Amino acid sequence: MDNLRPLQQCCVLVTPTSYGASDQTLRSELEAAVGRVIYNPHGRPLTSAEVAGLLAQVDGYIAGLDRIDAAALAGADRLKVIARYGVGLDRVELAAATARGIVVTNTPGANAGAVAELTIGLLLTLARGLHRVCADTRGGLWPRRQGLALEGKTIGLVGLGAVGRALAGKMAGFGCRLLASDPYVPPAQAAAVGVELLPLTALLSQAEFVSLHCPLTPQTSGLVNQEFLAAMRPGAYLVNTARGELIDEAALHQALSSGRLAGAALDCFTEEPPGAQHPLLALPSVVATPHMGSHTDQATYLMGRMALDACLAVLRGQRPEHVVNPEVYEEGRA
Ligand code: DGY
Repeated sequence: MDNLRPLQQCCVLVTPTSYGASDQTLRSELEAAVGRVIYNPHGRPLTSAEVAGLLAQVDGYIAGLDRIDAAALAGADRLKVIARYGVGLDRVELAAATARGIVVTNTPGANAGAVAELTIGLLLTLARGLHRVCADTRGGLWPRRQGLALEGKTIGLVGLGAVGRALAGKMAGFGCRLLASDPYVPPAQAAAVGVELLPLTALLSQAEFVSLHCPLTPQTSGLVNQEFLAAMRPGAYLVNTARGELIDEAALHQALSSGRLAGAALDCFTEEPPGAQHPLLALPSVVATPHMGSHTDQATYLMGRMALDACLAVLRGQRPEHVVNPEVYEEGRA
C-alpha cells in the first residue's frame, strides 16, 4: 500500500457507541497506537453528510451502522480502511470504497450468539406476553394471562447463516420443530443443526413463529410484504433481529391491526430510531427494542477486537482478516 502515514500520525474515527464499553483496553490500545481518535459526536448512527463531515481528516474508520455511501466517501482522501463493527454491509457502498482503494472488513460470527440470544428473548416475550404483563404488574395490576408454550411449536427461520445456526443450536433444548428457508445452505448443513430446510412458502404455511435472519440485499429488501404476510399462518408471530428494511412496515401494520398476525417483535426499523409516532409502536401486539442484538459484553468485545485489529493492520500496511472487497488488493489499488 502506498503513501501510508506513520501510525502515530494517523487519525481513526470510531462511531459504534458500544465500542470498548465492556473492555476499556479496546479504547486505550487504539489511543496508544495512533495519533488521534475521534469518537462518535452524536451518540447514534451517522448520516451520510455527518460521515462526510468527519472523514476528510481520517485514515482509519471503525464503523457502526452509519450510512457510508459514495457521497460520504467523496472527500475521504486519507481513508485507508473501513472496519465494520458487525457483519452487515448493507449501509456501506462497497463499490465506492473499492474505487477509492479503501479496504473494507467486517466481523463475521462475533455477534451471532448475542443476536440469537436476543431472538430467544423476543420469542419468549411474544409467547408469554411479557411486555404486557410487566407493564400491568408495574401499574399495580395482577394479570392472569395465559401464554403459549414454545415446546411443540414450529419455528421458521428465514436465513440459516451464522445467526440462524447459532439460534438453532441454542433452541435445541426447547422441544420445538425448527424449519429454515435459505437458498445458499445445503440440507445436510441444516440437518447438522437440527433444522429442516423448506421452500419459503412451505415454511410460512407451517411456522407459528417466523424469525428473520437473512442479510439485507436488493433481493431481500421488502421481503416481508403483503404476500409474505398472507402466506403466514393466521395468528402467527414475526420476529426481526436482522434489518428493518426486510419488512414493508405498512403491510405489517395492516396484518397486525387486522388481527391476522398475533404479534411482532422488532429490534430494527426502516428508519432508526423510528420515533415515538411510528404507527407500529402504537400497537400493543408489537414488542420493540432499539437494534440491540449485538449489545452484550461478549459480542461488543469480539466486534471491537476484530475491528480494531483489522483497522490497525491496514494502517500498518498488513492485509487484515475478513476483507469483504478483496478486489481492492487484486487490482493493486489498496
Ligand atoms: C451487524 O452485525 O451488522 C449488526 O447490526 C451490528 O452492527
